[in-house]
Amino acid sequence: MQPEPSERSTTRILASTVIRNIGQLVTVAQQPLAGANGPLQVIDNAALAVYNGIIAWVGSDNDAEPLFQQVTTAQDIAIVDAQGAVITPGFVDSHTHLVFAGDRAEEFHLRRAGVSYGELLAQGRGILTTMEATRSASTDTLLLLAQDRLNSMRQYGTTTVEIKTGYGLDKTTEEACLRIINMLSAQEETTLGQQTEMRIVPTFLGAHTVPPEYRDRRAAYVDLVIEEMLPSFVGLARFCDVFCEREAFTVEESRRILERARELGYGLKIHADQLSPSGGARLAAELGAVSADHLDHASDADLDALREAGVVATLLPGCSFTLRSPYPAARRFLARGLHVALATDFNPGTSYCENMQTILDLAMSALGMSLEEALTAATINGARALALQDQIGSIEVGKRCELAVWSVKDHQEIGYHFGVNQVRSVLVPR
Ligand code: NIG
Ligand code: FE
Repeated sequence: MQPEPSERSTTRILASTVIRNIGQLVTVAQQPLAGANGPLQVIDNAALAVYNGIIAWVGSDNDAEPLFQQVTTAQDIAIVDAQGAVITPGFVDSHTHLVFAGDRAEEFHLRRAGVSYGELLAQGRGILTTMEATRSASTDTLLLLAQDRLNSMRQYGTTTVEIKTGYGLDKTTEEACLRIINMLSAQEETTLGQQTEMRIVPTFLGAHTVPPEYRDRRAAYVDLVIEEMLPSFVGLARFCDVFCEREAFTVEESRRILERARELGYGLKIHADQLSPSGGARLAAELGAVSADHLDHASDADLDALREAGVVATLLPGCSFTLRSPYPAARRFLARGLHVALATDFNPGTSYCENMQTILDLAMSALGMSLEEALTAATINGARALALQDQIGSIEVGKRCELAVWSVKDHQEIGYHFGVNQVRSVLVPR
């Protein structure tokens, strides 16, 4: 018997787009979901309704049929046929250094010949090589380079990307780079409705290394960051990051910068314990940073401190791959109950890689993470590392709909079949 119109209206879902015929919807939901199986909460033969970019309904395609037929007759609604594809949340790449000019291919090969990353930095190369190229590039050049890189990330399934400055190292160039990051963000917004936009989160990393003009008066550079850059950049950057390392900034210098940043309303991030035990992880816990990143040399006590303080541990295996250093001990982090995120650390020195699928491959084959752990780390935990876990990173009612559509037949192929792009497209419906 057909329900009366009044009864029917109670089951209607307000939707602007309905995606149907999804072979496997890998929701990574944080709560158990009706009809979903396994730790990743996979729904076979699924459908998904979206209203104004927010997920309004998730379930079995069979249940969607009567529900959305009613809606279709009532209003203009876009129906997308996923043609049986596997769909996951789009990747959240929570750590990148995407705005720079030049390259460091020569240094890459010098490192193959035995010169270490730290030695190159101490010789005034490394980050400083890229700083010189970035300072001498025009805004247009930097913007075009960044757009190309963003497009590449999107092709591999990333829908949110955090972008750090850190190759200007003077007020003018740091500000120019922040403005470029904000321009990229605004450009993505103008593509609304074209299902291609990318969410961008800007981070100020003026404390990446001491620039040459301050080599003999590093305290003056720290003062410049604290007194001039940080206050001027409020509103241009969401986070402040510091490279806390023997070759860069001490714990004391990092603490001064981050405390001021916190007073000004920035969220905090730290490049911690990457090349040596730097004390960065402890500082992240002490200051309540949103994430501590790298952590290759963090001790068990450091990890406990991070967990207690609720700091996300972001692992960046692209660096270990490039620097030929030991991979971070992911199992140790997971066993201690930390929230582990994975990111590319895209940069010209230690991880020249836009592709989050490569990072997943490394996580599963080099770090020993399971598919469940790796996908969680690359989506919802990436969102946590940007304090966006209530908005993105999983496919759940009330969250923004930002998806990766895969060409695999089954999600179990992710990480198994490697070295090819398995993402067909990203999908960000309105
Ligand atoms: O995350 N460690 C500091 N920063 C980057 C490398 C930057 C560079 O070498 O240009 C990183 O590894
Ligand atoms: Fe980095």
